[in-house]
Amino acid sequence: MKEILTNEVKLNNQDVNTIDRKEFMRQVGIGFGAIMLMNCLQSCGVGGEIPDPNPTTNTKLDFTIDLKTNDYSGLKTKGAFAVVKGQNVIVAHTNNDTWIAVSSKCTHEQTTINYRASSNDFLCPNHGSEFTFIGNVQKGPATSPLSRYNTSYDATNNTLRVFA
Ligand code: FES
Repeated sequence: MKEILTNEVKLNNQDVNTIDRKEFMRQVGIGFGAIMLMNCLQSCGVGGEIPDPNPTTNTKLDFTIDLKTNDYSGLKTKGAFAVVKGQNVIVAHTNNDTWIAVSSKCTHEQTTINYRASSNDFLCPNHGSEFTFIGNVQKGPATSPLSRYNTSYDATNNTLRVFA
């Protein structure tokens, strides 16, 4: 059988460098492997920050909500609560005039929870899990607690800071 692929052939009387099929596939494989490795490293967080799937250890959480805005002015009423946009945090103003904040996603299947002022706890509307005002499970099926955050109310500026 005639050798089809050679290391060097003449094409239109010009020298053209070529590579054989095996070498071509090897180089493509290396390039593809490098791309896949970079994608994997990026998605795994190597070389960057690894997203924290458990906000309990999210020590960077720190934001302030303005209770003068339409989104949060209702929180000034005792017994009211709000899920803070973009933060996965639920804030409640208790009937005792204190402020509480926990992660807003149920630890069972990530449904957004509600606050119950009458019992000062949190209820998941999906399967009925209940959490205490500090986020501990008081009724399943959830088995893991919510993350609890600190709050600091600024009466002068009418703002509420929530932080880990
Ligand atoms: S998602 Fe909350 S109890 Fe199932």
